[in-house]
Amino acid sequence: MTAFTHRFAPLALAAACGCASHSLPPRAFPDAARLPAQATLPDPLIKMDGHRIKSRSEWFRQRRPELKELFAYYMYGPIPPKPAQLKATVTGEHRDFLGGQATLRLITLEVAPHDPQAPRIDLMMILPNHRPGPVPVFLALNFWGNQAISSDPRIPLTRGWLRGNCRGCTNNVATDAARGTQSDDWPLAEIVSRGYALATFCNADLDADRPDASLGLYAWLAGNDPRRNTPSDRGTIAAWAWGFHRCVDYLVTDRDIDAKRIATLGHSRNGKTALLAAAFDERIAMAFPHQAGCGGTAPSRGKIGESVKAINTRFPHWFNARFKQFNDAPERLPFDQNALVALCAPRPVLFSAAEEDQWANPAGQFEVLQAADPVYRFLGSPGLAATEMPPPGKLIASPLGYYIRAGKHSMTAADWRVFLDFADQHFRRQPKLP
Ligand code: GCU
Repeated sequence: MTAFTHRFAPLALAAACGCASHSLPPRAFPDAARLPAQATLPDPLIKMDGHRIKSRSEWFRQRRPELKELFAYYMYGPIPPKPAQLKATVTGEHRDFLGGQATLRLITLEVAPHDPQAPRIDLMMILPNHRPGPVPVFLALNFWGNQAISSDPRIPLTRGWLRGNCRGCTNNVATDAARGTQSDDWPLAEIVSRGYALATFCNADLDADRPDASLGLYAWLAGNDPRRNTPSDRGTIAAWAWGFHRCVDYLVTDRDIDAKRIATLGHSRNGKTALLAAAFDERIAMAFPHQAGCGGTAPSRGKIGESVKAINTRFPHWFNARFKQFNDAPERLPFDQNALVALCAPRPVLFSAAEEDQWANPAGQFEVLQAADPVYRFLGSPGLAATEMPPPGKLIASPLGYYIRAGKHSMTAADWRVFLDFADQHFRRQPKLP
């Protein structure tokens, strides 16, 4: 059923997206072996040529673009460019959701509507019905499809390939048994009663979470020619981040959404993605990388939990081929994850962790915030308002926020309460960007 179709005017494109291969980083950097070893987290305010950033404009015009190139070159691969077209089709609009408290809006986003291999994003929006005007939104990436978040049968089953541990899936495909399997962990009624919308989509819409690169965004961009789909120029996390950016393209046009209050959110691998997406796109006002760990919020140089070598071995597709050069030498990375957070400055970012989730290195995550703090302060933001890790259950709600709770690696309804408190705090006062 097509209730309404919105078509964007064709946008300027780096690569002719109907679609040629994505743009490469404009310059090459040295191999890992030729980079100096740095035992501590490199200072984001010092450029590759040793120059120390002295002004706001040097940060935004020189260092920020350089850091983006470095992350694309050595770690994530480039996030593909904005497509020429984004067609948004509302396939359902139900004002009786959550007992009439909310509207369920189902949207399909297509970048090449006539090409069956092109990625298609099923964006599920839940909007409070009582809203004084456009509302802030949590744009969240999910693991198992929109149907896992609510058992409402009107939500289409996700179409993508899902990893083996998906509840209610058969042969890696969602079935009706996969409906509502995560609904306890997504407190929808509470999110809307606090005045927020939720928009969510599944990572499998962009790229399957598996080493085989024959499916998904990069395969399509390469015209399904494996010779053009080169491992140094792709990474599944960057493909998922591209999905966040396309959802933002849509959300800024939705009159029910406040385009200045879009927050990205994700758990674990999806949290790594939520942070990367925010770092590279200033339309995203806030980021919630929950228990994101290695390759996200924990230092690559960290000695606790997952190492660069471990993540590259188990999930070789998440990062590009060059990142493997750092398996035994993370100290040669010319940046660490504090620089990814710094790319978000002065926008608020909350790192949330769990005591038993040592694999994601909660103490290292706090150090990452401490090492991003100088950039926030340089830009006039109060940064991180704590000099040591807080006790479990206490939210540090400064622009660089930190929270640790008892328990394991998971995203729960109680965690959402903390996200809502942090968002309340910062969406009242918007940081100014240049
Ligand atoms: C694994 C992986 C982590 C990742 C996590 C998840 O544990 O090692 O890096 O964050 O899966 O996404 O749940």
